[in-house]
Amino acid sequence: MKALVLAGGFGTRLRPLSCTRPKMLFPLANQAMLDWTMKNLSEGGVDTVVLAVNYMAEALVRYFGPTKFDLGIIYSREGRPLGTGGPIKKAQEHLVDGEPFLILNGDIISDIDYRRLVEFHKSNGGIATIALVRVPDPTRYGAVELDGDGRVARFVEKPEFGTAPSNLINAGIYVFDKEVLDYIPDGRKVSTEKEVFPILANQGKLYGYEVHGLWLDVGVPEAYLEANRHILERLTREDMGEDRVVHETAKILEPTYLGASVNVGAHSVIGPNASISDHVHVGEGCRIENSIIFPGASIGDYSSVRNAIIGENASIEKWVKVESGSLIGDYATITDGVTITEGVTICPSKTVSESILQPRQVM
Ligand code: GDD
Ligand code: MG
Repeated sequence: MKALVLAGGFGTRLRPLSCTRPKMLFPLANQAMLDWTMKNLSEGGVDTVVLAVNYMAEALVRYFGPTKFDLGIIYSREGRPLGTGGPIKKAQEHLVDGEPFLILNGDIISDIDYRRLVEFHKSNGGIATIALVRVPDPTRYGAVELDGDGRVARFVEKPEFGTAPSNLINAGIYVFDKEVLDYIPDGRKVSTEKEVFPILANQGKLYGYEVHGLWLDVGVPEAYLEANRHILERLTREDMGEDRVVHETAKILEPTYLGASVNVGAHSVIGPNASISDHVHVGEGCRIENSIIFPGASIGDYSSVRNAIIGENASIEKWVKVESGSLIGDYATITDGVTITEGVTICPSKTVSESILQPRQVM
């Protein structure tokens, strides 16, 4: 079976972390986000993955190469972004072989059983099946109304508050027959959710299949931190970097991941739920909990990072506090004694020398 993964786009809220890598390559313990999906696809009976790329395409090509996890990987490059539908049409020659194929949003972390989804698709008589999950707030997603037979009667992308047909939403994972390609216009940007699904629903050709278990759209810091917690729970000792130097008085609370060449100073406490990437330096007396630190960042003495994400090569100096869903962009500097809380976003390369205690984006 073949699968196309939509790996373009950069994710607006998490963009400050995208200076040197696209969102799909953000670290989750010792792997990139998209590794998780690729492994599941390989175990789910997929042999070939087409990666539809544009933003930072070369970083993806370099990272995955021509094959990984027993998957053949083909790259479909877009000159300009073609949305969620255009890339499917563009890659059609790689997808069609008489069998239905999978389409996936690349920013989803899930443990869905692809084989069962495909079986359901083959038995339902439609030409497209979308995996569905139940969420408390459907406004960030595509919401559906199902009729009694599992058919999607209505598909509404990003419904306004209070207008969603239900709490069942599009999980961003589909099985398509090749007929679906006839519904996607050629050579331009297309939104599958706005231009294709509503028509298929109208014609009774779109089915929904509710899935349970792990499912996250890594579009906001909170979801990224949650994905990190799930991956850490599944880590084994062998996944850890070898050459890290942890002072004998420092404490590592499980689950925590420490990458290669990580340094942790005296009396620091790391974890639980911390992912510290390669070449990160942590000083003395630091506290890092439920957070993700990108490669090459440094955390100065007596600083604390809780429920936060620190970008690549960012520098957190001494006696700094970063908390509450805040995000420090790549190469940013937070100077001595500064406190940052409450969902603050600091843009890349910015230097911050005054505390920020309210949700804000610092450009
Ligand atoms: N190749 C390519 N080209 N990929 C793209 C492009 C593009 O122009 N634009 C977006 N993508 C990729 C993104 O990288 C992501 O993996 C996927 O397409 C979906 O785009 P998002 O920007 O993350 O959309 P969303 O999260 O707001 O909504 C979508 O996902 C929800 C589930 O997480 C929709 O499909 C919703 O209906 C759905 O509920
Ligand atoms: Mg998304």
